[in-house]
Amino acid sequence: MDFEKRIEEIKEIVENQNKWREHETVNLIASENVTSPLVDAAYCSDFSHRYAEGEPYHRYYNGTKYIDELEEEANELAKKLFKAKQVTLQPISGTVANYAAFRMFTRPGDTIISNSTQGGGHISHNKFGAAGMLGLSVSSFPLAEDGYHLDVEKTLSLIKRIARDRMNYLSLLVFGCSLFLFPQPVKEIAPEAEKYNVHIIYDAAHVLGLIAGGKFQDPLREGAELITSSTHKTFFGPQGGMILSNMENEEWKRKKGFVFPGVISNHHLHRIPALAIALLEFMKFGKEYAEQVVKNAKALGESLAENGFKVEGEQFGYTESHQLAVDVSEIGGGQKVADLCEKNNIILNKNLLPKDKISAATLQNPSGIRIGVQEMTRYGMKEKEMEEIAKYIKLSVENKDVKQKVKEFRKQFDKTKYTF
Ligand SMILES: Cc1ncc(COP(=O)(O)O)c(C=O)c1O
Repeated sequence: MDFEKRIEEIKEIVENQNKWREHETVNLIASENVTSPLVDAAYCSDFSHRYAEGEPYHRYYNGTKYIDELEEEANELAKKLFKAKQVTLQPISGTVANYAAFRMFTRPGDTIISNSTQGGGHISHNKFGAAGMLGLSVSSFPLAEDGYHLDVEKTLSLIKRIARDRMNYLSLLVFGCSLFLFPQPVKEIAPEAEKYNVHIIYDAAHVLGLIAGGKFQDPLREGAELITSSTHKTFFGPQGGMILSNMENEEWKRKKGFVFPGVISNHHLHRIPALAIALLEFMKFGKEYAEQVVKNAKALGESLAENGFKVEGEQFGYTESHQLAVDVSEIGGGQKVADLCEKNNIILNKNLLPKDKISAATLQNPSGIRIGVQEMTRYGMKEKEMEEIAKYIKLSVENKDVKQKVKEFRKQFDKTKYTF
């Protein structure tokens, strides 16, 4: 093998990626974001070579004095930002956080209620993902007619019915979604759950940055015992996971064992200083950023509707989060529209909508697309730019070539904002 040639090829592919996705595309994938240069600089360090199993100052390794200091600092920052008594930043992704957290409250054979896949739930909440791997039986929250809100009355009846059924042991409700337009009724449902000793986890993977900025709901104050999350969607940290709680110390200490040594050995230490800086960015700029994200999402919803798109949730102002769902079933389906947009450097993804039945065909080409505005907001775009994006999406589905225009538009927004 010509090693040098292969290495050059690999380096070139990385450069191509950086040039394309970092500088030339309008990125509307709802689960992504970009980190600031400050966070990037903190991310690449010797910590990526090291091990530090255990908790700060109580490790199973030597040589950990700096990660002890940093992890303790990052933990304190997270507790302060999210007003939580307890935190662990050790899960290396949102899915890993869910796996550990579900196990904290369940045993194989228990029943949980979570959001269905068409209702926006994440795969880890369902039988094909973490919940199924933990041997849990999964029921879905009943949806209201609009498909984007839970039906509270039906949910209360479902909880009662399963909790009273001797053949089932209902141990957990999992709120939070991947297609997540509106807050979920945690406050309304928590008292019924408490009556039957059913625990509540809120998966904030998508909306953590909005919660940090005070712009969504406040799950720990509404009845959730745990928040699980990714740290890289609306929250603009490095890719990773976290769990937050207001449990008392003794209980938390026991529960944390499901993270380490349960599902984590070493927790990829280089994330921690980067995350600490992202937490500081949120303390200073989080409110302003989150407000702009929601304003931009609503503005894009309106502009897309003006351009003839069927934007879901119109009667509720389209969205209260960073996301929009658009029904494109009459113009070729989600896959086709996402591909047409990509031809013009607009990156978004296909998505099942609540009306879709799951089948090989709908998974391949579902009715919808999902759009997230958080990354473009981070680059400083405001409502006016959302109008332009809507026009470019419209031209893309008409199969017009606007790639060069999209590149030039994007070049004007090339620096991350909401940082020091
Ligand atoms: C609601 C929800 N939870 C968990 C996850 C998984 O997060 P990660 O990709 O960090 O494992 C996702 C991913 O998109 C998600 O949407």
